[in-house]
Amino acid sequence: MAAFKTLDDIEVANKRVLLRADLNVPMKDGRITDATRVERVASTIAELAAKKARVIVLSHFGRPKGRDTTLSLAPLAPALAAATGGQKVAFASDCIGPEAEKAVAALKPGEILLLENTRFHAGEEGNDPGFARALAALGDIYVNDAFSAAHRAHASTEGLAHLLPSAAGRLMQAELEALAKALESPARPVMAIVGGAKVSTKLAVLEHLIDKVEVLVIGGAMANTFLLALGASVGKSLVEPDLVGKARDVMVRAESKGCELALPSDAVIAAKLEANAPHETVRVTAVPDGWMILDVGPDTAAAIADRLAACQTLVWNGPLGAFETKPFDESTLAVARAAADLTREGRLVSVAGGGDTVAALGAAGVEDAFTYVSTAGGAFLEWMEGRELPGVAALKR
Ligand code: 3PG
Ligand code: MG
Repeated sequence: MAAFKTLDDIEVANKRVLLRADLNVPMKDGRITDATRVERVASTIAELAAKKARVIVLSHFGRPKGRDTTLSLAPLAPALAAATGGQKVAFASDCIGPEAEKAVAALKPGEILLLENTRFHAGEEGNDPGFARALAALGDIYVNDAFSAAHRAHASTEGLAHLLPSAAGRLMQAELEALAKALESPARPVMAIVGGAKVSTKLAVLEHLIDKVEVLVIGGAMANTFLLALGASVGKSLVEPDLVGKARDVMVRAESKGCELALPSDAVIAAKLEANAPHETVRVTAVPDGWMILDVGPDTAAAIADRLAACQTLVWNGPLGAFETKPFDESTLAVARAAADLTREGRLVSVAGGGDTVAALGAAGVEDAFTYVSTAGGAFLEWMEGRELPGVAALKR
């Protein structure tokens, strides 16, 4: 028996289903710039509607302090309609109270309603019992499909699960199954790649992964702090001198646990971070003053790809270089393609998450080749830290 119920375990016909989605999509001038989250939740909505549920969609959007019309979910109603194959999606301008109650009462089986941003009420983030009860009064069943918001113990992500019969939606289910395959019961050896700018934001991730994986690759600017700890001079690279001691601790603990810690051996350097800035490839021990490391070098990328070919599972968060600026994207793209090829050949389970990582995989054109790509940012990171996410814990039976 799975740890949580899914849509297979609940009877939804004619029932009012409160579906927590994460419609917190990037938007510019009122237009959605990346609809991935909408598209991914659409299959849960379509399935519920096809099963004749009265589907009531809840989500937060942005970080409003009180009601804020610039952070309305209204533009998401037509987007949901399009993503569910042209079904009508009604909208109510509040998520609790008379406005919401009226809209819910008007719903027929198989129809879809989107309620306004839950964060317009302080009770959402406060996980206020009164606010949670007001939401619960609108439904008979709670389905949570918002893994990417599950690190928040808010009323609509956590509180509701204690008030109504609950289940995971299809997206939450897929996410939890993929993550279990990646770290809970993975095929071994497992490689983790952790990149990004700062050690400080990833320290807990590194500490957890040392116990979980055979190979831990550190890339991105955070590798510079490790190189500094080893006595290399990193020129004017982005670095956190305060964390040199912590980096040393990580290396010592990895050694004692038999976790192979892989740092870059070569680097692409330039005098400034600018598209097509004059650049050179050097050993990491030979970075001149006035230069900065902007990507791991081709030898490092090739070594990662080689090592990966002998692994069964990959978990990836954070790019290896300043991938948004060419040509400092090359190693990230090369490793992404190597992982995609191994996955296509059936030799690797590859799971990646986090905004920058997803963008990098998209730029490499390999998003679809990975076993699973999570759209979660903060939630993915907390999962990589080994923390139990409140929204997931509350769904457990
Ligand atoms: C996200 O975009 O990471 C989630 O929707 C959570 O949003 P939050 O960080 O504002 O809670
Ligand atoms: Mg976030």
